[in-house]
Amino acid sequence: MTKTNKGFPKDFFWGASTSAYQVEGAYDEDGKGLSVQDIPKPYHDKICDFKVTSDHYHHYKEDIALMAEMGFNEYRFSISWPRIFPDGNGPINKKGIEFYNNLIDELIKYNIEPVLTIYHFDLPLELEKQGGWSNRELIIDAYVQYAKTLFEYFGDRVKFWQTINEQNMLVLYGSLLGTGATQKELYQQNHHMMLAQSLVMKLCHEMLPEAKIGPAPNIACAYPATSKPEDIVAAQNFSAIRNWLYLDVPIRGHYNKIAWSYLEEFDLVPTFEPGDEEILRGANPDFIAFNYYNSATIEHAPYDAPVGDKGDQQMAFTIPGWFKSFDNPYLTKTEFGWEMDPVGLRTTIREMYDRYELPMIITENGLGAYDTLEEGDIVNDPYRIDYLREHIEQCRLAIEDGCELFGFSPWSAIDLVSTHQGCSKRYGFIYVNRDEKDDKDLRRVRKASFYWYKKVIASNGSDL
Ligand code: BG6
Repeated sequence: MTKTNKGFPKDFFWGASTSAYQVEGAYDEDGKGLSVQDIPKPYHDKICDFKVTSDHYHHYKEDIALMAEMGFNEYRFSISWPRIFPDGNGPINKKGIEFYNNLIDELIKYNIEPVLTIYHFDLPLELEKQGGWSNRELIIDAYVQYAKTLFEYFGDRVKFWQTINEQNMLVLYGSLLGTGATQKELYQQNHHMMLAQSLVMKLCHEMLPEAKIGPAPNIACAYPATSKPEDIVAAQNFSAIRNWLYLDVPIRGHYNKIAWSYLEEFDLVPTFEPGDEEILRGANPDFIAFNYYNSATIEHAPYDAPVGDKGDQQMAFTIPGWFKSFDNPYLTKTEFGWEMDPVGLRTTIREMYDRYELPMIITENGLGAYDTLEEGDIVNDPYRIDYLREHIEQCRLAIEDGCELFGFSPWSAIDLVSTHQGCSKRYGFIYVNRDEKDDKDLRRVRKASFYWYKKVIASNGSDL
């Protein structure tokens, strides 16, 4: 294909991402309530929990100064719901508002655009105790009130909003990410999230006409394992259930037919109340934020296929009669077993643009690896540079294909604590000196990828 070599648009967002519970620490300070993530899990015997993490709560000025030094013009972060509403609803914690006001002001001081995630896996524990996302009466209203509060306090400075981080992973890997429930319940929770997100998008448009809001699922293109026709159907099934369901509802205003027939077949259809269809039609997102770590390769699964272990949130899985994951022989894996597929990122962007024609921003992409702090505060991470270089290159090609991509915000700006694999699985451009069971001095150290990304940003993506 002949390329026009247009490169990245001049106002392209270059930055990186984090989430509150994985980076902030200060889990019970200044009036913050607990979230579902603050409850110790069995694996926290061996690896760190979310109490201190990178202590960004106390280091945010230093961290943002480092982001500015790299040249960020964007930073994607999430608000901790229980830092604003310790009980999930009820009284506002003014100290929480103050913290995010300061953080946003600090970003603006450096001309870094805040891209704010309303909810990233850290449901307030008090809400969970009352049924969490299963309790329709409680949760939809609580989420809408929470978002409304954020719009009121931060809407004068925040122009880009995302509703729910990786709703698809919350539903498909509920037990791993803190929403443990039966399959049936998970799809009912999913329906409540869809309604809540729709109401919040509508509210955002009413309260902040200048702002833009979108969903933030994890999207992975699906390859059929072979050209066997049944494998093609299986790959389509996978995409419909794992990807499109989470974009079709907010963007097209309804569930897609393939996902719906899956829900029917397995008796997972959620209960709709009168008016739900209309609420779902009212979302009208302005853009798609999406996370991409890898593609999926899929083969046909007979009805008697063993289900097996689901692995973690980036591993494809099996639904008998519908699809089965397949190890792609053309791809290599990270130290943590995740396939790496930069070309798959271009394919994913193209497929999404073809289907929805909405502007897109990549809100996560990155390599989790064991980094080593060498003498003299040196961290050499050429593997991360290679990974990101190859993915950025594919973003450029997707833009030249005609897709509207307006930002690249990889995971993560700074080392933080992984969802379930501790702090030794590092993703950041900035090293945080701590290990699993010792918080050490939490010193910040610029990795080799820090200097490389700075150069990439300065050249608007042309010097990779
Ligand atoms: C995404 C999440 O699933 O992947 C992040 O949005 C997460 O919260 C990231 O940290 C990487 O996953 P992990 O399990 O390596 O932390």
